Amino acid sequence: MSETLREVFGQAAVAARVAELGRDVSAAYAGQDVVLVGVLKGALPFMADLLRSLDFCPELDFVRVASYGAGVAPGALRFLMDLETDIAGRHVLLVEDIVDTGRSLAYLLNMLKERNPASIKVCTLLDKPYRREVDVPVDFVGFSAPPVFLVGYGMDIGERLRRLPAVYELIQE
Ligand code: PRP
Ligand code: MN
Ligand code: MG
Repeated sequence: MSETLREVFGQAAVAARVAELGRDVSAAYAGQDVVLVGVLKGALPFMADLLRSLDFCPELDFVRVASYGAGVAPGALRFLMDLETDIAGRHVLLVEDIVDTGRSLAYLLNMLKERNPASIKVCTLLDKPYRREVDVPVDFVGFSAPPVFLVGYGMDIGERLRRLPAVYELIQE
């Protein structure tokens, strides 16, 4: 089987959009105590770039949820790593690379809301709203993504291709 990569959002376009998101997030949280919560592993490159585009310094923390991958039934969700921080009374911004069915986010939002944060919002680089199986609020969106299999800038296939500096469609034939 051969694999071809077709660029969907190039490095410059991603960088420009992340800078804009950084400004939007900065404006939304001016003067507040914020915890950026990255959803590992896919959010890592986006979170790093978003962080550097902010004009304030949030606390960083991470959770890990996996829904796709070796040995996991489609739709099955595994909660693999919890926060270290107590988020009670604090403003939480969940950072995702992509929102697809919404299942990962719905799970995380339900779980984290029980800990009584001051607020909880979502920032995702990519969104596939037409794929939603559960309704989730998404507050900051980089791009609407086309209905193709995406890799790069954190997104993987079998743990490969996360390091690619831009977003590509993976065409397998
Ligand atoms: C991917 C992606 C999102 C989630 C979106 O993560 O990074 O976290 O799926 O899909 P959903 O909206 O249908 O839940 P994945 O489970 O592949 O784990 P990873 O980030 O470690 O690659
Ligand atoms: Mn993920
Ligand atoms: Mg994955």
